[in-house]
This record gives sequence, C-alpha cells and structure tokens, in this order.
Amino acid sequence: MNTKTDAVRERVDATRVDQVTETGLKNETRVAPPIIPIRSLGEHHREQILSHLLELDEHDRYLRFGFIAKDEHIARYVEGLNFEFDEVFGVTNRKLALIAVAHLAYSPDDRRRNCAEFGVSVAKGARGRGYGARLFERAAMDARNNGVSLMFIHALSENSAMLGIARKAGAVLERHGSETEAYLRLPPASLNSHMTEIVEDHYAQLDYRLKAQSKQFHNMLAAIKALHHSWPMGGTKRPD
Ligand SMILES: CC(C)(COP(=O)(O)OP(=O)(O)OC[C@H]1O[C@@H](n2cnc3c(N)ncnc32)[C@H](O)[C@@H]1OP(=O)(O)O)[C@@H](O)C(=O)NCCC(=O)NCCS
Repeated sequence: MNTKTDAVRERVDATRVDQVTETGLKNETRVAPPIIPIRSLGEHHREQILSHLLELDEHDRYLRFGFIAKDEHIARYVEGLNFEFDEVFGVTNRKLALIAVAHLAYSPDDRRRNCAEFGVSVAKGARGRGYGARLFERAAMDARNNGVSLMFIHALSENSAMLGIARKAGAVLERHGSETEAYLRLPPASLNSHMTEIVEDHYAQLDYRLKAQSKQFHNMLAAIKALHHSWPMGGTKRPD
C-alpha cells in the first residue's frame, strides 16, 4: 500500500498499538529461509525503482497503492522517497534490473518513533520465489535494529499473498471491510539481529558485484561476437 500517508499513520494510535498481542517475530525460531540477496537502495536507484513500479499492471498498482495509480502518481511517489530517513530494499536479477522493491517508511512523528510501515512489489515474472516474504523479513530486521517495535502493513483484504506473508511472520490482522491492517510486533534488537543485518548487507553487495562483473563479461563477449560477424567473410573465415 501507499506508505506514509497521513491517513494511515493516524490510524496507528496508541490504543491500537497496545491492543496488539506480543507475538514477536516468528522468524527467530523458523527454519532458515532461502538466501536471497537484498540490497539497500539509495538515491542513484531512483530511476530503476521508477521503472520497476511503472511495469506493474493496473491490478498490481491497485494492490500496491490502494488505487489504480497512474504513471504520474508513481513518479511523484518515487520522487518523494527519502533515502536518508526511510529504507528501500531491492532484489535484482542477473541483468541487474530491479525485480522486487520494498519500502520501509519510518514514522516522522516523534510520538510514533516505534512504528514503521511496509510496502512491497515484486515483478510478475518473479513471484512465488519467496522475494516478497524475504523482503518483509529483511525490513522487519532493519526496523527492529532501528528501535521500531511495531511494523504495519495496510493492504486490501483481497490481497491474500501479502496478508499471507504478514500472517506467517506472526502479524495480527485487523480487517475493516475491503481493507486490512496487519501489525507485527518486533522484539528488541539483539547482537544477533545486528550481526545478521551486517552479514546480509555484505552478502548482497558481493552478489551485486559478481552480477556486475558477469554482465560486463557478457557485454564484452557480445561485442566480440558482433565484431566477428562484421568481418568480410561473414564470420566464417577470419582475415589473416
Ligand atoms: C504480494 C507480493 C509482494 C508477493 O510477492 P511474492 O514474491 O510472490 O511472494 P512470495 O513468493 O514470498 O510468497 C509469499 C507467500 O504468498 C503465497 N502467495 C503468492 N501468491 C499468492 C496468491 N496470489 N494468493 C495466495 N497466496 C499467494 C505464496 O505461496 C507464499 O506462501 P508460502 O510461504 O506459504 O509458500 C506480490 O504478489 C506483489 O508484488 N503483488 C502486487 C503488489 C502488492 O500487492 N503489494 C503488497 C501491498 S503493500
């Protein structure tokens, strides 16, 4: 859903926060999920994030933002991303294109410093591989390590994939007709959660560098191939 909208933020009032049960992150006791390199994105990824979101079809835009966001809405949303304050995570394919993006919006309100809102999108062709769930877990870890005790998601009630991810992670769901709020209580940060985040960051950086080198290598091979085909004998016989 659209992150950081005032309307949504307003709904996370103290009363409701207190009503959430102490479920904590189930992740702590779960079997290790598949390793998916997730990078923290920055200013220079803005254009790629925009391309990723513009690729979403009408229905996905509806699920992600709560309305059928037009290209200009998406452009405004991406322009408004504050990488200093919020956290944006991404998963890239071998060609380094962003195939999944998650936005963790920290509350700018001092009284709600312990809350953060999560929103995510995964490219159609990359769904069902666990990216959505892993991004959720990655964001929860970041939130936890930054002193947040409650992560929430505002989703349409029909969004069974998103709500399934939240429920499985231990979130409490509150349905209000066509919309549902999911609240995930986070345990306090620990040495383990800080170390895990550092290791995951390093792993993602390494993965990115390897993909970049591989891409460079393939580009070089393609250039050599093109050169070869442009030789006079049509690539069948090399000149002396
Ligand atoms: C929601 C979304 C992010 C899920 O991404 P994903 O990478 O496919 O999710 P995962 O592969 O991690 O799957 C998570 C779980 O949802 C289940 N799932 C996937 N698609 C589903 C669907 N259409 N209906 C029900 N469950 C579904 C998976 O089986 C999996 O469950 P499991 O862990 O028990 O196997 C993706 O569908 C999406 O981008 N949708 C459009 C935007 C959106 O809805 N964003 C969320 C609003 S904030």
